[in-house]
Amino acid sequence: MAEAVILTSGNGSNFQAICEAVSETEHKIAAMICNKKDAYSFVRAEKLGIPAYHVPYLGRDRKDAEKEIDELLTRLHPDLIVLAGFMKLLSPEMTKKYEGKIINIHPALLPKYPGTHGIEESFASSDKELGVTVHYVDAGMDTGKVIRQKSFVRTGLESLDEIETRIHACEHEIYPQVVIELLNCLEEEK
Ligand code: GAR
Repeated sequence: MAEAVILTSGNGSNFQAICEAVSETEHKIAAMICNKKDAYSFVRAEKLGIPAYHVPYLGRDRKDAEKEIDELLTRLHPDLIVLAGFMKLLSPEMTKKYEGKIINIHPALLPKYPGTHGIEESFASSDKELGVTVHYVDAGMDTGKVIRQKSFVRTGLESLDEIETRIHACEHEIYPQVVIELLNCLEEEK
């Protein structure tokens, strides 16, 4: 069995999709960490029976928040750290410490449209092919090595809401797959 910890900031739909898929395997989601106190991901965690921790960033230095996250990770000792809608940029110290063990999902076909508005920027572009990217996390903003992408071709008639729905569907399909595949590999390496 290999274990993952998931970091979220809001809705948590990817967190839930991963938990549901992982529950069908020998692996385990050990905990969810969220920086927003009222995030819906806490409701999901409760329903899923996953231990959840609030680590605030608001009103304090990033290094203090990261120290708390790091302490939790040291205690939980997961094989994999999964960022799922975690809207904080991790420091170079954190990404170096956990190099090769942190992955993220981005709602665009990287290297296009990094940052926090991937869906809106993809939608506003003239690109016909849109999609999502799972990648390793390095010190940059969505710059780490790409693990997998999934795309679709739009007609150009879709609304932003429709595009968003299709992007989330791609995310919920590939992110759990990648997490399980990586947990399988990490388990074999043990
Ligand atoms: C997802 O679309 C994810 O790709 C995006 O936040 C959303 C979180 O949704 N992440 C980023 O934009 C990171 N740059 P969720 O909380 O329902 O999983």
